[in-house]
Amino acid sequence: MKIAMVGSGYVGLVSGACFADFGHDVVCIDKDATKIERLHAGVMPIYEPGLAELVGTNVKSGRLTFSTDLASSIEGAAAIFIAVGTPSRRGDGHADLSFVYAVAEEVAANLKTPAVIVTKSTVPVGTGDEVERIIRESGTKVQFGVVSNPEFLREGAAIGDFKRPDRIVIGADSEWAQGVMREVYRPLFLNKAPILFTSRRSSELIKYAANAFLATKITFINEIADLCEKAGGDVQDVARGIGLDNRIGGKFLHAGPGYGGSCFPKDTLALLKTAEDFASPLRIVEAVANVNESRKRAMGRKVIDALIGQSGDDSVRGKKVALLGLTFKPQTDDMRDAPSLAIAQALIDAGVEVAAYDPEGMELAAGMMPHVTMTKGPYEAIEGADAIVLVTEWDAFRALDLDRVKRIARAPVLVDLRNVYDPAEIRAAGFTYTSVGRG
Ligand code: UDX
Repeated sequence: MKIAMVGSGYVGLVSGACFADFGHDVVCIDKDATKIERLHAGVMPIYEPGLAELVGTNVKSGRLTFSTDLASSIEGAAAIFIAVGTPSRRGDGHADLSFVYAVAEEVAANLKTPAVIVTKSTVPVGTGDEVERIIRESGTKVQFGVVSNPEFLREGAAIGDFKRPDRIVIGADSEWAQGVMREVYRPLFLNKAPILFTSRRSSELIKYAANAFLATKITFINEIADLCEKAGGDVQDVARGIGLDNRIGGKFLHAGPGYGGSCFPKDTLALLKTAEDFASPLRIVEAVANVNESRKRAMGRKVIDALIGQSGDDSVRGKKVALLGLTFKPQTDDMRDAPSLAIAQALIDAGVEVAAYDPEGMELAAGMMPHVTMTKGPYEAIEGADAIVLVTEWDAFRALDLDRVKRIARAPVLVDLRNVYDPAEIRAAGFTYTSVGRG
C-alpha cells in the first residue's frame, strides 16, 4: 500500500518511518527543502532515539522516500496523512489550523486517485468536517474520505509507542474509509493492538481529552506533593499507595516541576478554547493549566529559598546556581514550554548567575536563555555553584560523583526537582537536600 505523509516533523517522520518498516511504501513530504535535503543525506531534523537507524534501513530498502512535491507524491497513495503543526494561535490559545487547511487545499487541487485523507495533527473537534468541505468544494470527482487518527506518541519513546500502542483510534464516518485504515494498520492489528473505531468528532475529542486527563493527573500529584511538604508526608509513597488501585493506575503520578513539552501546555489551552466556543466549561482543565503555569515559577522560588537557607542571607544577588537538564524531559532536545525556562528566568530576575548543562538541548536552549552560561558538562556547571538544581532527569545526572561535586561546588546544596536521589543517602553524603513532596 502506498502512503503519503504530508509534514516531515516529529509526528510525520516517526509515523512515516514506522509505516515503511511495516512494509508500506511511504513518501514523506515537506515544504522545507533544506529539511528534505538533509533527510536524503540521513540527517534527522530532531533528536529521537532509534529514528536515524529506522529511517536509514527503510530508505535503503526503497520503502521510504522524501519529497518537496506534494502534487506528484500523493498520486496512487491510498492514504494521505496530514501531519503538520498546529501551534497555539498568538493571543488566544486556539490551535492554529492554517497549515492543516493549506494542505487540504493542495491535496484537493491535486487529487487524481481515490484516497483517504487522514488528520494525524492534533486538531479541535470539527476540523475534519472543514477539511472535508474544502476538498468537496474543490469540485473533485475523485473518491475520497476524511478520517481522524490521532497520535499518542511520547517524545523519546515515540518509535516504541508507535509500534506497540495501547490503542489505535480511528474516527471514520464511512465503511470504505474504515476499510482503508484497517489495511494501513493491518500489521499492528495482527499484533492485537486494539483498534477503536469511532465517529470523526469523537476521535478528535479523544486526543484532547487524553492529554488533558494526563495533565490533570500530573497536576493533581504535584499539588499533593505540596501538601506532603507541609504536612510531613512522602509523595512517592502516596503516589504508589494510590496508584496500586487499578482504577487510578500508577503512571503519570510522578511529582515534579510541572509538565512542559509540545503537547500538554498547548493542547489544554486549545481544549479550553473549544470549551468556550461550545459554551461548555471545563473548569478542571482550566485549573490544571493555571496551577501548572504558576508551579513552574514557584520552582524558581524553591531554589531561591534553598540559597537563602544555606547562607541565611536574604539577598541572593551574585550567587551562582547550576541547572542540570534543560529540556522538558529526558531523551529529547525539545525545549518547548520546558520548566527550566521559567526557573532560569526567576533566578536571573533575582540577580543569580546561572550556568547550565543538558546532554541534547543546549543548542536550542542557548537561543532561548541568552543570560545563562552553557557549559561542556555537568561538573563545569557545578564548579563554584552555591546550589545545584536537577531540573530534568537525564540518566547522566542519576549517579553524579558526589565527592567531586562537593569538592568543586561552593556549597553542597542540591535541589532535586525530579526526586532522583534518596534523601537519607544524599544527606548522609553531606548535602543539604531539597526535593519535591518529601516533607
Ligand atoms: C505527551 C503524551 O504522553 C503523548 O501521548 C502525546 O501524544 C503528546 O504529549 P510528551 O509531551 O512527549 O507526550 O511527554 P510525556 O512523557 O507525556 O511528558 C509530558 C510532561 O509531563 C513532561 O514535562 C514530563 O516531565 C511531565 N510528567 C510526566 C511529569 O511531571 N510527571 C509524570 O508522572 C509524567
